[in-house]
Amino acid sequence: MSYNYDFTVKDVSDAYDGAVGTLWEFLMGEHIHVGGEKETIRLADKLGIRENNYVLDVCSALGGPARYLAKRYKAKVLGIDITGTMLKKAIERTAIAGLADRIEYRRGNALDLPVKSNLMDFVWGQDAWCYVTSKPRLISEVARVCKRGGKIGFTDWILGKTSFSTKSEADSLFEFMIFPNLETMQGYSNLLEINGCKLIEAEDLQNDFASHLKFYLKKIDDLKDTILKMFGEEMYNITRTGVKGWAQAAKEGKVSRGLWIAKKL
Ligand SMILES: C[S@@+](CC[C@H](N)C(=O)[O-])C[C@H]1O[C@@H](n2cnc3c(N)ncnc32)[C@H](O)[C@@H]1O
Repeated sequence: MSYNYDFTVKDVSDAYDGAVGTLWEFLMGEHIHVGGEKETIRLADKLGIRENNYVLDVCSALGGPARYLAKRYKAKVLGIDITGTMLKKAIERTAIAGLADRIEYRRGNALDLPVKSNLMDFVWGQDAWCYVTSKPRLISEVARVCKRGGKIGFTDWILGKTSFSTKSEADSLFEFMIFPNLETMQGYSNLLEINGCKLIEAEDLQNDFASHLKFYLKKIDDLKDTILKMFGEEMYNITRTGVKGWAQAAKEGKVSRGLWIAKKL
C-alpha cells in the first residue's frame, strides 16, 4: 500500500526556514542525517570519491557533508537546496571554513535541478529525498545530470517490509516528518534501473535505523531542559512523540532507511 499526503515543497521549505532545521541540527549535528559524519565517510568510500571529482549534493541543507567531501577528499561540490535559511548558513559556514573555492551552492528544487545534463561525476543524497514529492521525477533528474560512467549514491528514509497497523499510525508518522510519500527498497532500485543506471548496491539498514532513532529519543530525554529552553514545550512534546513513534515503527520494520549505489550506463 502506498501513502500520499498533500505536503508541498513550500511546506518543507517553510519548516526548514524555521525551527525545524535548528532542531534537527541540534539532534544530529550539521550532517543532518542518521549516523552523521560516519555515514558521510561510508557513502563517500563506497562511491570512491577522489580529488577534483565533481559531486552534486541534492538537498545539501547546511553543507556539512559538502564541506567534509571538499576537505577530506578534495572533491568539488555543488550543493542544491530549496530553503533560503539552510543555503545562507551553508554559504556562511563554507566561507568560514575556507572552502568557498571548492563548493558552490544553488537554490533549486530537486524535481527540476538547475544543472546541465551529463555533468556530474557523482550525484549524492542523504536522508532528504523522502521530502521530495515525486520520486520518479527526482530519480530521472538525478540520472540526467550524472555523466555516463558516473555514480549515484544516496541514503533515504523508506517504507519497511511490515505494513502499518492502521492508516492513522502512518498519518501521524508522515505528518510529523512532513513527508509527502515514501519509496520502498525495491521502488528506488526499479527507478534507478528504468532511468539507465546499473544497480551496484542496495542495502536495507533497518536495524541500524531503529537503533539510531532510539539513540535520538534518549538524547531528547537527556537534553529535555535545553530543548524546552530553546524550542518551547509544544515543540518538545511534538518532537518527543514523533521520534518515539518513528523509533517504534523502525523497530517493527514498518519504516526503514536504505542505501543505494548505482552507475549511470
Ligand atoms: C534532512 S535535511 C538534508 C540533510 C543533508 N542531506 C545532510 O545530510 O546534511 C533536508 C533538506 O532537504 C531540503 N529539501 C527538501 N525538499 C527539497 C526539494 N524538493 N528540493 C531541494 N531541497 C529540498 C530541505 O530544504 C532541507 O534542507
